[in-house]
Amino acid sequence: MLFGRKEPIHVTNLTNDLFLRALRREAVDRTPVWLMRQAGRYLPEYNATRKKAGNFMALCKSPDLACEVTLQPIDRYGFDAAILFSDILTVPDALGLGLHFVEGEGPRFKKAIGSEADIRGLPAIDIEHELGYVGEAVQTIRRALNDRVPLIGFSGSPWTLVCYMVAGGSSSDDFLKVRQWLYSRHDLVLLLLEKVTDLVIQYCAMQIRKGAQAIMLFDSWGGLLADAQFGRFSQAFLSKVVAALTQQFPDTPSIVFVKGGGLWLERIAATGCTALGVDWTVNLGQARVRVGSQCAIQGNLDPAVLLGHPDHIRAEVARTIQSFGLLEPGVGHIFNLGHGISQFTPPENVQCLVQAVREFSSRSN
Ligand code: CP3
Repeated sequence: MLFGRKEPIHVTNLTNDLFLRALRREAVDRTPVWLMRQAGRYLPEYNATRKKAGNFMALCKSPDLACEVTLQPIDRYGFDAAILFSDILTVPDALGLGLHFVEGEGPRFKKAIGSEADIRGLPAIDIEHELGYVGEAVQTIRRALNDRVPLIGFSGSPWTLVCYMVAGGSSSDDFLKVRQWLYSRHDLVLLLLEKVTDLVIQYCAMQIRKGAQAIMLFDSWGGLLADAQFGRFSQAFLSKVVAALTQQFPDTPSIVFVKGGGLWLERIAATGCTALGVDWTVNLGQARVRVGSQCAIQGNLDPAVLLGHPDHIRAEVARTIQSFGLLEPGVGHIFNLGHGISQFTPPENVQCLVQAVREFSSRSN
């Protein structure tokens, strides 16, 4: 037992610990690989389980079915990490906003946050209770994985959750209302960010206590912010989350993914995260020079590549691996897409990607 540890850690003996080794920038034989949204609609077995559940939220709320879909891509492709099956919008749902999914349109809330009164009226909630189904899913998945690969837990970033809460769901105008507030009522945005940040910390802490072995923060809409606003409205709150989790769980790595954040890699690294997730606009070799001695790097194939011919997929995987460069202790690369996998991806193309990562990253060693 180490002194100063605030929470118990889960002592494990993973069969495959490549992902955690790469996060810690230790030596690896090849590049570990997993894909954002690896459990999703491109997989026929996912669609079958979703049908059994009735709808997407019912799937998230059933620990057994969430476990089933989490393991499907692990069983099919042998990915090096599993990610909890859930959604970032479960947190606003727990606050009473009433999340549902409209076919073909994405997420919708029954209530949006439209005023200061709405923010002040948000209930104080007990995450362990309101999102107990997520904690149970984490435990169920850990048991089912039986230490084959590590399990990643996740949350939306405070800024990205605020975008959805103010828009009332997906946005067709790049979340213009909350961006307007940045300039007219920044006090409201900060008030909401503070509230959401506390919940994000509690939510991630719960997932770690239940067995998540790494945490990923999705700042899917960080790239919408002006350069002058990113620090104050997204980075500062990402830093708060990372600092709180690092203090409570010093052994649990964190990955921060800011979609469109390529210009700000140094600022994202300054949050203290273990790894940076990067989208496909970033050159991995340059990212490595900029922040690779501070953080591991995760990414960054364009998901559109997976809609193409297998020869093309192999070539793009090779290019991605070469652009990161030689694997050596002190740097870490985790192969991933630059954003979630498209629902139109042929499942056999994912097999081709996984095989290519194994082949080319072992060769470049
Ligand atoms: O990666 C995984 O396999 C784990 C599961 C996961 C989902 N959503 C399942 C999901 C994760 C990590 C998320 C995160 C998430 N959810 C983000 C951040 C990542 C990103 O994409 O930027 C965001 C912004 C959301 C919000 C959300 N959930 C949207 C915008 C949508 C609709 C998108 C679409 O493709 O229709 C969802 C729904 C959703 N979440 C699906 C899945 C598999 C598809 C819904 C279905 O099965 O009907």
